[in-house]
Amino acid sequence: MPKDFIHITDLTAGEIRGLFDLAAEVKAKLKAREDYRPFSGLTLALIFAKPSARTRISFETGFYRLGGHALYLGPDSVGIGKREAVKDVARVVSRFNDIIMARLFDHQHILELAENATVPVVNGLTDYNHPCQIMADMFTIQEYRGHLDDLRITYVGDGNNVVHSWLRLAARLPFTFTAACPEGYQPNAETVDLARQSGLSEIAITDDPFAAVAGADVVYTDVWASMGQKAEAEERRARFQGFQVTAELMAAAGKQSRFMHCLPAERGVEVTDEVMEAPYSIVFDQAENRMHVQNAIMLRLLGKG
Ligand code: CP
Ligand code: NVA
Repeated sequence: MPKDFIHITDLTAGEIRGLFDLAAEVKAKLKAREDYRPFSGLTLALIFAKPSARTRISFETGFYRLGGHALYLGPDSVGIGKREAVKDVARVVSRFNDIIMARLFDHQHILELAENATVPVVNGLTDYNHPCQIMADMFTIQEYRGHLDDLRITYVGDGNNVVHSWLRLAARLPFTFTAACPEGYQPNAETVDLARQSGLSEIAITDDPFAAVAGADVVYTDVWASMGQKAEAEERRARFQGFQVTAELMAAAGKQSRFMHCLPAERGVEVTDEVMEAPYSIVFDQAENRMHVQNAIMLRLLGKG
């Protein structure tokens, strides 16, 4: 394993599959309420420059359940890159804590944090990517299907941080990934190229959601305006007309298709209530799996699993 987990492409395919195996083992231990405390005596610093429910809860609870202690450092406390230089925060926090998770705006800041921290750094989302989310999502898909063979994933909506992590996963594991995004809201071209150049996965970028979802095993969406873009929400709603995930779109995908969303969802905007509540929606399983997959990532980074 590398020192840090910043991008899915920091890992090899073998390391990714190994993490899924470890996540399944750790999940089973926690479900059985086994006395398993590999993080005993260790502390995790959680640095948040943006809001969070799942990321905070899953890291804090997961680290505690494995015997450690986690500290929540919210947007008003550390002021990373504002109150104090990123490289100074990195060195100070490393003196107190065994591992750091950070959710930041600027992707350069997480790179700088990792470079200057003497302890492992885990990326809990930046404006560019969200690797823990997509690792948990792929693990969830593997749980549902029992395997990852002949997998077709279609993302509908904004070509954002979540999509960049899907593309980086597609550079490590083989699957068909289609993103249907409005013109001007497509994913970063360099990241699309990186996925294509791996030669492993089939990557398609389109602006036709109905054609894109046909035959998909998973239809995935996310908010149209991410954290930091909420001022653009109204304009985006106008531009994203036709990209809402509806029961009609799910019917066009086919009966085999599951619905996924990293959450939080804006019900009635990028997805309807009906789809969120449908039997094919697995959004809460993917939310739970954040904890199990992140525990596996931290176990490996800390040399404890
Ligand atoms: N999916 C996710 O990262 O959720 P939060 O923003 O609530 O942490
Ligand atoms: N794209 C969303 C994901 C939230 C988990 C955002 O960045 O706000």
